[in-house]
Amino acid sequence: ASIRSMPTDVPASNRTQDRTAEQPAASRDSFTNTPDTDPSLAANREWGDSIRSRMQSSTLGDETVRANTLSDAAALDEVIATATAAGETWRALGATGRAEILHRAGDILQARRAELLEVMGSECGKVLEQGDPEVSEAIDFAHYYAESAKRIETIDGAIHKPVGLTVVTPPWNFPVAIPAGSTLSALAAGSPVIIKPARQARRSGAVMIEALWEAGVPREVLQYVQLDGRELGTQLISSPAVERVILTGGYETAELFRSFRPDLPLLAETSGKNAIIVTPSADLDLAAKDVAYSAFGHAGQKCSAASLVILVGSVAHSERFRRQLIDAVGSYRVGRPWEGATRIGPLIGPAEGKLLHALTALEPGEKWVIEPEKLDDEGKMWRPGIREGVAAGSPFHLTEYFGPVLGVMTANSLDEATAMVNAIDYGLTSGLHSLDEDEIAAWLAAVQAGNLYVNRGTTGAIVQRQPFGGWKKAAVGAGTKAGGPSYLIGLSDWVDAPVTA
Ligand code: ALA
Repeated sequence: ASIRSMPTDVPASNRTQDRTAEQPAASRDSFTNTPDTDPSLAANREWGDSIRSRMQSSTLGDETVRANTLSDAAALDEVIATATAAGETWRALGATGRAEILHRAGDILQARRAELLEVMGSECGKVLEQGDPEVSEAIDFAHYYAESAKRIETIDGAIHKPVGLTVVTPPWNFPVAIPAGSTLSALAAGSPVIIKPARQARRSGAVMIEALWEAGVPREVLQYVQLDGRELGTQLISSPAVERVILTGGYETAELFRSFRPDLPLLAETSGKNAIIVTPSADLDLAAKDVAYSAFGHAGQKCSAASLVILVGSVAHSERFRRQLIDAVGSYRVGRPWEGATRIGPLIGPAEGKLLHALTALEPGEKWVIEPEKLDDEGKMWRPGIREGVAAGSPFHLTEYFGPVLGVMTANSLDEATAMVNAIDYGLTSGLHSLDEDEIAAWLAAVQAGNLYVNRGTTGAIVQRQPFGGWKKAAVGAGTKAGGPSYLIGLSDWVDAPVTA
């Protein structure tokens, strides 16, 4: 745990990026974060407009999806056999050879930034403001894991051996960065990969994988699949040829995978139910802004999103904080991703089940600060809502909803607020807004979550600086942190140090 970010975000890099100019290749042998697109440049705003104009009719990725959708067991067996056999040549390239290809992949992802943004908006409703840092993260993963691979090969004088065939099953909410990070880590470690992106994000995953193929990762080594029918999914996960599964998704999916194969070597980042605590010492204006963005960015559909804000002591009665939060949320325009002013796009599918309940029903003692409002017939477009009076132990306190609704809780002390956070089964991200060093130290020592953020929102972890991964039911299996120094170790087997004397 304890990833600290104090006091607040600093830009990943001060290099200005004009997206209409040729992008410089990232430097080799040392890692720096890739800067996001700078919207203060008029050229970049025009570049953004042209991407939006293509979103509605975009067919990017279609061909790869069509060509690699499997409908029978024999075809899947063949993919598994081909990938397994191709592993040896990939491994033989050595970390340096693989790193060269991965660095090139990072450069190609950069060159294809516009296409990645187009397909994510078109397929997953992601607005440019959300998609742009996601593409930067994917690029960062390429360069970061390329360099990591070189370092771990010789760590402690031992030789690391790639585990072998790795299956990647990423989610739809980060349709480029998560599939990229998982795939690139396994490739860097030296393993062949079969990736099956989420059905709702299959084209976005395809465009990302096309960039890796273009960089020189052989198609046999990196196999993209979509599977017709659940039986094929079970077949893939259960195959004894599979040495690792990298899953990002719900906790129930991890349990399902384990039910197919109890000894499954799983590296899983699972569900989150995350809170930001605000104490009376906090900068309340900053806190309101961070809470609003963490709760409602990408319509709350991030495992890292803040679903609760816990107000300590006098903050519970602060008219200033309340006003700032309501105004911040009210300023978010809900719309289609190709409409330039949209800050919150549609949900990935119509709200249903427990999310629909959370958007439409209150528990005893709760009331709406802002009532969510459905804006379309389908049930995908929602003006976000805030409910207050959420009681400790109530459904809203403990359940993951994954949508545009925030709950307000109150506590008499920081200790009580931290206990409310720790009562939640999932410990993925957690936030504290406080300007008191003793409070910060006490919270860091006590809170149970993988990524801890002080005076910053809970979303948008940055590669290398904020390695990302959960605790408790937010991680299953070998829980290491993506974008951090130990991630590739979970994708490697140890062999003895060579005897030299
Ligand atoms: N890594 C993503 C974030 O931090 C999930 O928001």
